[in-house]
Amino acid sequence: MSDVELDPEIADILHGEAVRQAETLQLIAAENFVSRAVLTALASPLANKYAEGYPGARHHGGCELVDAAERLAIDRAKRLFAAEHANVQPHSGSSAVLATYAALLRPGDKVLAMGLQYGGHLTHGSPVNFSGRWFDVIGYGVDAESGIVDYEQVRALARAHRPKAVVCGSISYPRHIDYAAFRDIADEAGAYLIADAAHPMGLIAGGAAPSPVPYADVVCATTHKVLRGPRGGMILCGEQFAERVDRAVFPFSQGGAQMNAIAAKAVAFREASTPDFRAYAHQVVANARTLAGGLAAEGLTVTTGGTDTHLLTVDPAPLGVDAATARGRLAAAGLVLDTCALPWADARGLRLGSAAVTTQGMAEKEMARIAALFATAIRSEDAGRRVRDEVRDLAGGFPPYGTPGEGTTSAVPAPGVMV
Ligand SMILES: Cc1ncc(COP(=O)(O)O)c(C=O)c1O
Repeated sequence: MSDVELDPEIADILHGEAVRQAETLQLIAAENFVSRAVLTALASPLANKYAEGYPGARHHGGCELVDAAERLAIDRAKRLFAAEHANVQPHSGSSAVLATYAALLRPGDKVLAMGLQYGGHLTHGSPVNFSGRWFDVIGYGVDAESGIVDYEQVRALARAHRPKAVVCGSISYPRHIDYAAFRDIADEAGAYLIADAAHPMGLIAGGAAPSPVPYADVVCATTHKVLRGPRGGMILCGEQFAERVDRAVFPFSQGGAQMNAIAAKAVAFREASTPDFRAYAHQVVANARTLAGGLAAEGLTVTTGGTDTHLLTVDPAPLGVDAATARGRLAAAGLVLDTCALPWADARGLRLGSAAVTTQGMAEKEMARIAALFATAIRSEDAGRRVRDEVRDLAGGFPPYGTPGEGTTSAVPAPGVMV
């Protein structure tokens, strides 16, 4: 695109956000930096195309090319995750969960899912979400000591309540999920098994985490996070659920598909099928483990004693601060992350992820440095400014959108410029 004047106020915001992302460290476990190819598809003329329905059966004319994009996305998703059927239209992870429930359940049905206080997502039964309003959701937990899913408790609850669906998946569980155990529990209760793999989906694509596809009736996920695609959702299932899932997405819960996002999903699935992405996914886990080891050595309590994935949760209490204070100090130092539930207390902890910093090219050495900076920033408010300079310096060596002047210039314009 050229000779188009960008809204100057929004241009300033885009520029400011690009600077913020470049000068701080994104340790939010759900975030990543997509490729320029993904950004290009998102900002393409496909953004203007209306396409209600599915390829070959649209309610609008002129869909030949977007049909081809959606078919590519579907084929690539099926191949990448060895799934019989893929729906790539959900606008978000939450939309994917909504459509999955709509495909399998009726309002009032019982659902057994991880309790929110242990790391369940809003769509797993929160009273402020459709899931908690329209379904009778029973929560399972993790062992208070180990932080590991209490599979015996899940089995006992399934036996007692006979839910229509069992949901496995979490926003903050750092270990691999035992999908075979969940399948067994669901079968015993005569329940569907739904895997909400929003977090590990990129690790699954890269062969760094086990896949729920052979076990779950329906797998829903986001295409952002470790998978490094556009913000959006997807659903995978066997042929026997294909029609129900498709109808639950459109026309039941969505209208026109966002064809620019679907093209960007196709791009991301292609990228995720490369050897480079496999190496990336394994490096993400190696980095999270180094980060966990470094934080434990600094005195923080690491939930479950470590991680199998891109994310870890820690309790800052041994350093004498609560999670909200710690997050504030870390933010002031340029370390951006979230608070989260802790298995053993009402007090909250901190959740970190390694996906974005790994995309920037950081490895174990940088993770060790981040762990040290992290602990220094938490221990003392006064250290914040010094740590902030060091964080800026570290981030500056790994620009998220490439180095201007080296052919991979920043994805966003400078304030007020013509693009
Ligand atoms: C397990 C899980 N499910 C669903 C979602 C919802 O995704 P979205 O924010 O795209 O609606 C998330 C997002 O973090 C998630 O972690």
